[in-house]
Amino acid sequence: MTNTPAPSRLFEPTRLGPLHLPNRLVMAPLTRNRAGADGVPQPIMATYYAQRASAGLIIAEAATPNAVGQTYPNIPAIHNDAHVTGWRRVTDAVRAEGGRMFLQLQHGGRVGHPDNSGLMPVAPSPVPLPETIHTPGGRQESVVPREMTHDDIRSTVADFAAAARNAVDAGFAGVEVHAANGHLLHQFMARNTNRRTDAYGGSVAGRIRFVVEVVQAVAEAIGPDRVGLRISPGNAVNGIDEGDTESIYPALIEALADTGLAYLHIVFADPDQPLFQDIRKAWPGTLIANPALGWGEPLPADGGKHAGERLLDAGADLISLGRAFLANPDLVERLRVGAPLNQVRDKHMMYVGGETGYTDYPVLAAALAGASAR
Ligand SMILES: Cc1cc2nc3c(=O)[nH]c(=O)nc-3n(C[C@H](O)[C@H](O)[C@H](O)COP(=O)(O)O)c2cc1C
Repeated sequence: MTNTPAPSRLFEPTRLGPLHLPNRLVMAPLTRNRAGADGVPQPIMATYYAQRASAGLIIAEAATPNAVGQTYPNIPAIHNDAHVTGWRRVTDAVRAEGGRMFLQLQHGGRVGHPDNSGLMPVAPSPVPLPETIHTPGGRQESVVPREMTHDDIRSTVADFAAAARNAVDAGFAGVEVHAANGHLLHQFMARNTNRRTDAYGGSVAGRIRFVVEVVQAVAEAIGPDRVGLRISPGNAVNGIDEGDTESIYPALIEALADTGLAYLHIVFADPDQPLFQDIRKAWPGTLIANPALGWGEPLPADGGKHAGERLLDAGADLISLGRAFLANPDLVERLRVGAPLNQVRDKHMMYVGGETGYTDYPVLAAALAGASAR
């Protein structure tokens, strides 16, 4: 049984820089730990993403731009030729199904462990993650990261630019710079993780400097209309306490407003929040909003459709959904016809290799065929 759907702007075609998007639904980046131990994307990842090619845009999961930036085991990377070759298989498979893809670039900073990367994590200041961290040998205490020198900062900016060039070589339409969810760029912006007294710390202007330099270097490397930026204002994930959220993001947006970026992507966007409204007014380009659905909460029955429509009404241009796409390869079609959604299952398989809970979610036609056979 399907319900008659109300007309929805979610299914309108639109543009993103040079790209034509068939709808306004974006698959949010979702780390799934299916790469090889060397960070090389595996063929199963091509299958998974190709299954989801009907998204207006796929933002592929966080990929590491240099060795020390690796967060957890089996995270894909994008800093050598083998990574490029592995990702090319993925982008080819998605293109063959008519899809479009950006790649998220993530440096974990203090969210990392020598048992995962083989290196001591680096961060703006030697402030450890106040949580244990997943390693191949199980959860371990976090280590105190090494404070980044100016040479580290320069080379990391260059690594992001090189990773972006690699992503384009691998067939991605662009990259998303990850400045959200407590990873390195967010660590530079937050007061509790950035205790620096040099030009990269202290005032808001100092704490946003590294993010601005990374974004500008990436934009210069591959063209600004191929570059997005993800932020999570006020999100305390990974032990972040920004301190002055209300000042950081307006300053960041002012610094980048004229760069001509492809988009700004807000995690846990809430249309009723004054900060969301201020960001919408100040950001001149495309805004992708990820609704405030709660990460650890059960998925709402409509996967976030209603929340997404409210955000479109409040000025967002595109809506990203994470877990709804994870569990529904044909999410766009299901939402279009008002069909029931698969719920996330096999949670213990979210961050572990293999097909279970990854490539084995049924599409609607298969689910209906199964139901009528019973
Ligand atoms: C399994 C899983 C992996 C995630 N990995 C990433 C990631 O690699 N990069 C990122 O920015 N956010 C990541 N997120 C956050 C999602 O992109 C999204 O913001 C979050 O799931 C909330 O959206 P939703 O309610 O539509 O799922 C992840 C979330 C989940 C559940």
